[in-house]
Amino acid sequence: MQRVHLQGIAKSFGATKVLEQIDLTIEPGEFLVLLGPSGCGKSTLLNIVAGLEQPTGGRIHFGDRDVTDLEPDQRDIAMVFQSYALYPTMSVRRNMGFALKMQGLSTAEIAAKVADVAKLLQIEHLLDRKPAQLSGGQQQRVAIGRALVREPQVFLLDEPLSNLDAKLRADMRVELKRLHERGRRTTLYVTHDQVEAMTFASRIVVMDKGRVQQCDRPEVVYAKPANRFVAGFVGAPTMNFLEGELALLSDGPALRLKENLLPLPGLWASRGLQVGQKVVLGLRPEHIGLAAADDVGTCPGHVVMTEPTGPDLYVRIRLAGQEVTSRMSPGQAPSPGQKVALELDGKAASLFDVADGQRLN
Ligand SMILES: Nc1ncnc2c1ncn2[C@@H]1O[C@H](COP(=O)(O)OP(=O)(O)OP(=O)(O)O)[C@@H](O)[C@H]1O
Ligand SMILES: [Mg+2]
Repeated sequence: MQRVHLQGIAKSFGATKVLEQIDLTIEPGEFLVLLGPSGCGKSTLLNIVAGLEQPTGGRIHFGDRDVTDLEPDQRDIAMVFQSYALYPTMSVRRNMGFALKMQGLSTAEIAAKVADVAKLLQIEHLLDRKPAQLSGGQQQRVAIGRALVREPQVFLLDEPLSNLDAKLRADMRVELKRLHERGRRTTLYVTHDQVEAMTFASRIVVMDKGRVQQCDRPEVVYAKPANRFVAGFVGAPTMNFLEGELALLSDGPALRLKENLLPLPGLWASRGLQVGQKVVLGLRPEHIGLAAADDVGTCPGHVVMTEPTGPDLYVRIRLAGQEVTSRMSPGQAPSPGQKVALELDGKAASLFDVADGQRLN
């Protein structure tokens, strides 16, 4: 297992800056997920770690070894691409063994390793087929298998599940997680799918516009997003944002929004926050609920629409002139048009700076 250390990585294509000042460490055996919108530079960063792109600035170390100027085949990595890129004329067996053959392993060694990995991925019965005779999910397994047989120091995956349908993607998610738990290879995994990121990651790196916005454990990124971008990007349905002024009621903190004073019981006010200060309040749908008492006076909402999803019910509610989404259980179901008393969970609330969007609490 190998530690990967990126120091001050920058990349420009001509005048276009794609990555700026990326400092990251992937700990030995860690599963680090790069998450961000299309075009934010995820693949570029992965390709730089792989050696397929040269950075315009910064250094890359694998353990104590500076690999910045090494070719991909000198880095001891294996990569799985979004397009599986299998060799179409070779059988699955030969696809999987090809890199080992290039490394000069004997036929018996190759056969043993391929058999091992094929068993792990449950593709033993497919070994003699050509890629065109496989489903998308099976091709994907072969692509992963081809990377696994090499037992690389560092495993790089670029959106390997994005071509699969929802059901297969969910199955492969579980399988990849199990594989990692078994092998504990140092892994860098690129995705723009936050569910994928939440499922696997020991830590998530949220990127936007070529910069790291936050790097932390999934639960921290979800509960304490570092800025408005991260808050809005992670979580579905997205976090609710309400812009108002901090206020103090006799029984605790509140947000003044136009003529409303919305109580935020338990809001943890950090030093530096002041009554009257303009803030953006961020509340996840599960932190807006129906009040226990029917006290419509404090936090009155007006149900606009309900959206059943099975286990959850998402309710669009007009609150203080804005629409918010609340997550409820189907049994709670208020009807469209109904007036409801809401309770906002101040303990779970995030506060952001109105101007730069950085987290304040
Ligand atoms: N060879 C290149 N020449 C010029 N610009 C490039 C090149 N490769 C990538 N870019 C630009 O760099 C930016 C980042 O691209 P990259 O492929 O890293 O994004 P990404 O985060 O992987 O996006 P996606 O989720 O769509 O795969 C994009 O704006 C892209 O147009
Ligand atoms: Mg990409």
